[in-house]
Amino acid sequence: MKPAHKITLIPGDGIGPEVTRAAVRILEATGLKFEWESFQAGAEAYEKYKEYIPKELIDSIERTRVGLKGPVSTPVGGGFSSINVALRKKFELYANFRPIRNLPHIPTRYPDVDLIIIRENTEGLYSGLEHEVVPGVVESLKVITEKASTRIARFAFEYARKNQRKKIHAIHKANIMKLSDGLFLRCCREVAKAYPETTYGEHIVDNTCMQLVMNPYQYDMLVMENLYGDIISDLCAAFVGGLGLVPSANLGEQCAIFEAVHGSAPDIAGKNIANPTAVIRCALLMLRHLGEHEAALKVRDALEKVYRNREKLTRDVGGKAGTSEFADSVIEMMESSAAVSPATQVSRA
Ligand code: NAI
Repeated sequence: MKPAHKITLIPGDGIGPEVTRAAVRILEATGLKFEWESFQAGAEAYEKYKEYIPKELIDSIERTRVGLKGPVSTPVGGGFSSINVALRKKFELYANFRPIRNLPHIPTRYPDVDLIIIRENTEGLYSGLEHEVVPGVVESLKVITEKASTRIARFAFEYARKNQRKKIHAIHKANIMKLSDGLFLRCCREVAKAYPETTYGEHIVDNTCMQLVMNPYQYDMLVMENLYGDIISDLCAAFVGGLGLVPSANLGEQCAIFEAVHGSAPDIAGKNIANPTAVIRCALLMLRHLGEHEAALKVRDALEKVYRNREKLTRDVGGKAGTSEFADSVIEMMESSAAVSPATQVSRA
């Protein structure tokens, strides 16, 4: 019998506990064994531990090296700094990988979208370096380094090479931020030279938004600094049905944390109506990261069947089912596929 996978679970707040619970139930239904080390982060953790990121949580990630995370709210315009950004920096999770792909039978403006967004995760305008120079004047520093820019560009080109992707566009605003985005571009160009099989292009970020909405198929992979990646991935989520559907992985040399692109959605929290698909797709990415490809296929097939079937979809994609009912349905699909005899499976392959 295989040993259990030890995973740090951060349920998060808002819709976080509802959607991560759905993903955990589905992971457990794959037949694999998991040992969950569960911790709160953010405001809820502060009430208990007087720390926004408890030491126990840090220790756990250092031990397990793999986390599954629900969204954690960040107060607007004051209060504590983003827990999400802090975790990415703490564990050097420098690459934020965001695949944008359609699910079957979700009516969207564009069918068959297949885009990969690679977002630099540790610096840019998310460096948290802001100060008031004098009352009424604030500076916010954008940090771009050769090291981080080269590292993210290399990550993108390596991914393209290993996954037969054809094209990478670096997204920038180097016409205005000549030094910072200029450095980012120089690093991308330098790395691109070592990957002649991948077509390399550059687009300015505002134009990219327009180009994406006009014709997303012109892009294959996009690589960019932190803020542009944050904004563009929400825009691209709309191509495939919205924020409830899009996963992401924060990847570093030592650890990985898998979390949805969406936030804590306070407007729908606690009502059992959030779509857990994004976190379930994160769980899929996590299974692949753990080398559990068969289980990942099983979950993906079941998820797609639930979408094809259309009876148990959540409201954001035109259904009436609750979060937990959706998860029940994915589990039922997994169980009914397992019940098909191996002979039938072979004849279908
Ligand atoms: P949001 O992603 O939470 O919500 C935006 C809209 O999308 C809302 O109408 C919401 O109902 C809908 N939505 C999001 N996820 C959904 C799901 N799974 N199913 C159905 N509908 C869904 O973005 P917002 O409102 O800007 O942020 C809320 C909070 O989340 C803020 O405190 C923010 O800081 C935090 N946040 C945390 C993130 C993380 O933990 N990685 C990422 C983004 C935001």
